[in-house]
Amino acid sequence: MENIKRFISEREELNKQTLDFAGKNIKRFFNLDMNCYKAGVLDKKIKEMLGLSSSMVLRCDDCISYHLLECHKAGVSNEEIEEVFSIALIVGGSIVIPHLRRAVKFWEEINIMSQKDKFKTKTELFSYIKISLEKVLSEEMGLTDRLQMICDILSQEVKYYNWVGFYLTKDDKQTLVLGPYVGDETEHKEIPFGKGICGQTAVTNQTFLVPDVSMQSNYLSCSLNTKAEIVVPVFNKNNEFVAELDIDSHEINPFNQEDKDFLEYICESLKSYF
Ligand code: SME
Repeated sequence: MENIKRFISEREELNKQTLDFAGKNIKRFFNLDMNCYKAGVLDKKIKEMLGLSSSMVLRCDDCISYHLLECHKAGVSNEEIEEVFSIALIVGGSIVIPHLRRAVKFWEEINIMSQKDKFKTKTELFSYIKISLEKVLSEEMGLTDRLQMICDILSQEVKYYNWVGFYLTKDDKQTLVLGPYVGDETEHKEIPFGKGICGQTAVTNQTFLVPDVSMQSNYLSCSLNTKAEIVVPVFNKNNEFVAELDIDSHEINPFNQEDKDFLEYICESLKSYF
């Protein structure tokens, strides 16, 4: 388990450092790499298995660990991984064996981790999610797709993020319009600035964390199940308020400073796309 955590946090740190350092060509190459693994004619699962097999033949332990994590996320079974390992071994030969040993160990650790409650702390969970987000935050795609993918990842990975969506500012700069989201359909497709938690965030331009929505008088209810809400503003390159990330939870008081920091990191990373 420690192996996995170490790998995830080191990769995250080094990727950040590399992308800060990188010029256009390196960034383009990174984008190309990410695009290649997006579902196409071949689905995500097959692509990750191909990436894994190639990485084993080329004997890159970091790449192997990464693809094992992605294979796991894509739902690859033990039996399927065993067949991928055997192809890599037959193609690469006995020189693959030391890497195969480490791959087996890493895969088993992933399995143990997924059986238990995956991560003990939010720090670990958010670092893990950042690996998936890193792709979405850097690869080339349209704004709607990017926002939708962020919503998908957040709602899938964080069990107390029960409604995740973006509101975008209308040209009049007085109204928010519902953008991509995951969760129950909401009647609040347009919200005037100042109304509800979302509308108030549009006015203050500050993250609004509401531990218990029943304590708020200026609140627009989306669902009776919603107990708490957090809304984080998004700014463009000129620091103008352009959108917000809205998350509802069915738990009371589920969000803390770590959620706030994590979500602000995501919104900050979106700056260049508006
Ligand atoms: N509760 C929000 C409205 C949006 S829904 O949560 C999706 C608010 O008070 O602004």
